[in-house]
Amino acid sequence: MIASAPGKVIVFGEHSVVYGKHAVVSAIDLRCYAKAEKRSGFRIISQFGETGLDFDGHHSYISHAIRRFSEIRKIEGALIEVRSSVPPASGLGSSASVTVAVLGALNAEFDTDLSQDEIFELARNVELDVQGIGSGTDPFVVTFGGSWVIPEKKRFETRLNFDVVDTKQKSVTSEMVRRVRELKERYPDIVNPVLDAMDSIALKGAEALEKNDAERVSELFRMNQSLLRAIGVSTPLIDRIIAGIEEEGYAAKITGAGGGGCIITTGRGDFKIGLSGEGVRVEDFEDWRESDN
Ligand code: MEV
Repeated sequence: MIASAPGKVIVFGEHSVVYGKHAVVSAIDLRCYAKAEKRSGFRIISQFGETGLDFDGHHSYISHAIRRFSEIRKIEGALIEVRSSVPPASGLGSSASVTVAVLGALNAEFDTDLSQDEIFELARNVELDVQGIGSGTDPFVVTFGGSWVIPEKKRFETRLNFDVVDTKQKSVTSEMVRRVRELKERYPDIVNPVLDAMDSIALKGAEALEKNDAERVSELFRMNQSLLRAIGVSTPLIDRIIAGIEEEGYAAKITGAGGGGCIITTGRGDFKIGLSGEGVRVEDFEDWRESDN
């Protein structure tokens, strides 16, 4: 059986959300597709190659997803094949997306009848298995789809659209989260107020998005980016790209963990993203063939 899950953008609140602050997140219209087929032994096929269970390599999220699923439903084996339009290690939730798509496919293939809540719980554990750290925001939004204010889990709608620039620099969430934690431990009196300011930005950002107030969102993007820079998750390349975007009158910020990855912008991006993508869902074979093209 085949299942798919969306990628995500963090519109406001990356990193501060790890410390219980507010974040504004949305599923996007790029998706990861996973096919699960019963067989003996485990085989994983993706753009990174073909392996067995591979807990430390490119297939770590998939392997841990299989292991977590097996704790609920004992299985002898499966062939897992993955195709994703979410660029890997880019801050657009590719890891959560592949995890949830694989859990969705296993759920359907083995008739396990897991609810979205249960899939989220498993995906949350996989995030911790692989990264050892993380807020659970990515697996949440990717499982349920839509646009949300975290931690209240308040759903909202907006008509505003954004572009994305992919810096093509790799963004490794666990490493960036660890870096911020270390900075916070060394300079709590500096970093804590920055995280509090990010919290206020996220709350005001959610209001501005709901009111479709593009002007206010731009202002808040600029402030949030300055604070992300202050906690060390921007890079000279990101700063240069954002300077170019700002010179043309738009606003932009990192989305996701930073250190590379993607930039969300009010204009002049590489590609457009649609917000409020649908969460995990079962697909039919027609969709699998289409995703082959
Ligand atoms: C990663 O997409 C977002 C971070 O806030 C980490 C997390 O929330 O787990 C950087």
